[in-house]
Amino acid sequence: MEPNLFEAVDAYIEQLFVADSKPAILENCEREGIPNWAVSANQGTLLQVLALTCRATRILEIGTQGGYSTAWLAGALPENGKVITIEIDEHTANVARTNLSNAGVGHKTEVICGNALDVLQQMITSGTVPFDMVFIDADKPPYKEYFEFALKLSRPGTLIIADNVVRGGKVLDEDSDDPAVIGVRRFNETLAANKRVRATIMQNVGTKSHDGMAIAVVL
Ligand code: DHB
Ligand code: MG
Repeated sequence: MEPNLFEAVDAYIEQLFVADSKPAILENCEREGIPNWAVSANQGTLLQVLALTCRATRILEIGTQGGYSTAWLAGALPENGKVITIEIDEHTANVARTNLSNAGVGHKTEVICGNALDVLQQMITSGTVPFDMVFIDADKPPYKEYFEFALKLSRPGTLIIADNVVRGGKVLDEDSDDPAVIGVRRFNETLAANKRVRATIMQNVGTKSHDGMAIAVVL
């Protein structure tokens, strides 16, 4: 099948199911020099469906970037709900705060600027209340560690999602020297072997080309 067929179907799905694709966030990211690694509008909608499925009021996101997926997740929350999202770069974190405020979800989001591994350790040390859903979408080499922290910040029923775990099929290459491929392969194997979760990977095609999201529920 040709890739443009996947894109055409993605556009068809978006036209049916997405009333507002939040272009202002992506436009502001472009103005601010932030790379466009955000999820697609259809993937954002999927994140909303998943957040609503687990009736999430507390969501943890690892990797904010411009706040595009954060805004989708916040859109699935009740008024008293919160997405706590971690971004390593200060400029990017500030752009995300502006984007989320402009999108009308500033009160439902908290952007923490810092190294996620440190912030997550601090959350565990301080006895943070478990999250209902975790979305991992940051740098790929420490995905396994992000997952292990996510599990510690979970309760039975928590949904853990991880973006970009297929990478155009590069994930099949067990001899890859690409740090992102090595990172997601390590994560995928850890996820598959972990007895505390039931998980799978859903391949995605469309405007973001060929990739996949891991979906796990904590038992
Ligand atoms: C990359 C990261 C992402 O989170 C994504 O969705 C796409 C690409 C990257 O690091 O290249
Ligand atoms: Mg991603």
